[in-house]
Amino acid sequence: MNDLEKNVMQAGEPFDYNIVLIGFMGTGKSTVSACLSAMFGMETVEMDQVIAEREAMSIQDIFANYGEEYFRDLETELLSGLKSRKNTVISCGGGAVLRARNVAEMKKNGKVVLLTASPETVYSRVKDSDDRPVLRDRKNVTDISELMEQRRERYEAAADIVIDTDNKTVQAVCEELVQRLMEMR
Ligand code: S3P
Repeated sequence: MNDLEKNVMQAGEPFDYNIVLIGFMGTGKSTVSACLSAMFGMETVEMDQVIAEREAMSIQDIFANYGEEYFRDLETELLSGLKSRKNTVISCGGGAVLRARNVAEMKKNGKVVLLTASPETVYSRVKDSDDRPVLRDRKNVTDISELMEQRRERYEAAADIVIDTDNKTVQAVCEELVQRLMEMR
């Protein structure tokens, strides 16, 4: 642990707000969230996991049975309920920023951190999993790159901080993230 991290730890409950991780699928939101939790004992909320548990259904099945809009409504409902928390890392689904209302909810008590990665990196991270309905039939670098471009403006507009994750360890990403948050104080 470096000096900065020690300072953060000495603050007891270090963040009196939530850290909201946004970004395209495969940019490392869940991994970074787990790392922040391990480093600082922060609570975490994995949005997709909570939604799947609440609905007792996988994300693919929610999309297949009820459609994307229904899933987006569940995201809005969940985010709205999280603003009363603090010192929690909220790992959002990659499409949560597509609704302005969701971004407004994130910002009520959170600093929004955008994680980015190149289409090639994203592809390498998602290629072996089938649990992302939005990438069904689009699991290739060209389509990922196109979808990323379509969403770029929304991601960037929502973000208080942007951190590129390409060629960095998860530890390095967490350290950069905490450093940047401390600088904002
Ligand atoms: C989605 C991203 C997924 C999940 C759902 C839709 C998206 O989350 O919420 O499949 O539209 O980008 P991850 O970013 O955690 O894969």
